Amino acid sequence: MEDLIRIENLVKIYERGEVLALNDVSTTVQKGEFLVLLGLSGSGKSTLLRCINRLIEPTAGTIVFDGKDVTKASSRQLRHLRRRMAMIFQQFNLVKRSSVLTNVLSGRLGYVNPAASAIHKFAKQDIADAMACLERVGIPEQAYKRADELSGGQQQRVGIARALMQQPDLLMADEPVSALDPATAHSIMQYLEQMNQEDDVTVVTSLHFLSLARRYGARILALKDGEIVFEGSPAEIDKVKFKEIYGEDAEEVEVR
Ligand SMILES: Nc1ncnc2c1ncn2[C@@H]1O[C@H](COP(=O)(O)OP(=O)(O)O)[C@@H](O)[C@H]1O
Ligand SMILES: [Mg+2]
Repeated sequence: MEDLIRIENLVKIYERGEVLALNDVSTTVQKGEFLVLLGLSGSGKSTLLRCINRLIEPTAGTIVFDGKDVTKASSRQLRHLRRRMAMIFQQFNLVKRSSVLTNVLSGRLGYVNPAASAIHKFAKQDIADAMACLERVGIPEQAYKRADELSGGQQQRVGIARALMQQPDLLMADEPVSALDPATAHSIMQYLEQMNQEDDVTVVTSLHFLSLARRYGARILALKDGEIVFEGSPAEIDKVKFKEIYGEDAEEVEVR
C-alpha cells in the first residue's frame, strides 16, 4: 500500500498560553485508509487535522502529502494541495446566509473562500454536478433553501456534498457527528464510509465515541496530551488501553 500522508516528528506549540498541543507525532496514512482519531477534548485531534492542510502552521516537523512536502509548500502549491483535501467540521461551517446549492458549488472552487464563492458565476455543468452531489446525500429538494434553515443533520449532509463536489483524495472530518443525535450520526458516518469505499477517498476523522470508532474505523490513532498513546486496529483496544486513552474514571458508552 502506498502512503498518502506521512507525518514526521510533528510539533505544535501555541504561542498564546504556551500550550504544547502536539509533541513529536509521527504516523503514516495509507491511500484508501479510514483512520479514526480518538482522544479526550484538548488532546490535539483538531490541531493534528489542521496541520495536515496547514490551516494551522506546524511549529516543527514534516508533513508529506502524496509525495509533496506540505510544510515547505509555497502558497500557490498549498492552494493546489488543498484542492485535494476536503474538510468537514463539527459545526458544519457552511455559509449560513447562502443557499445550499451555493455552499455545495463552493467545493468546486477548491478551498472554500466563502466570500468569493457567493459572487462566483458557475457553469451549467457545475450546477448539474452540485445537484448530483445533493442527490447522493438525499437532499436535492433543499437546494434553494438558505443553509441555516436546515437541521443539523441536513447541514452536515451539505458539508459532505460540498466535499464530494471537490472530488478530493482526502477527506478530513473534525468530529463530524458530535453535534448530532445518535441516529443522525450513523447516517452521516455511512456517507463517510461510502466516500471511502466507493469513491476511493482516504478518510481521517476524529470521533468522540469509541463505539463509533470501532464500527467505522479500520485503524485508530489515539492522542493524549498531544502524544500518540495508541495506534492499531479497533479490536486491539481492550479495557486497559481504553483507560489509557480516556482516563481511569471513564466508562465505555454505546452510540446506537
Ligand atoms: N488557537 C489556540 N491557541 C492556544 N491554544 C490552543 C489553540 N487551539 C487549541 N489549543 C490548545 O491546544 C490543545 C489541543 O487542542 P485541540 O487540538 O483543539 O484538541 P482536541 O481537538 O483534541 O480537543 C489544548 O490544550 C487546547 O487548549
Ligand atoms: Mg477538536
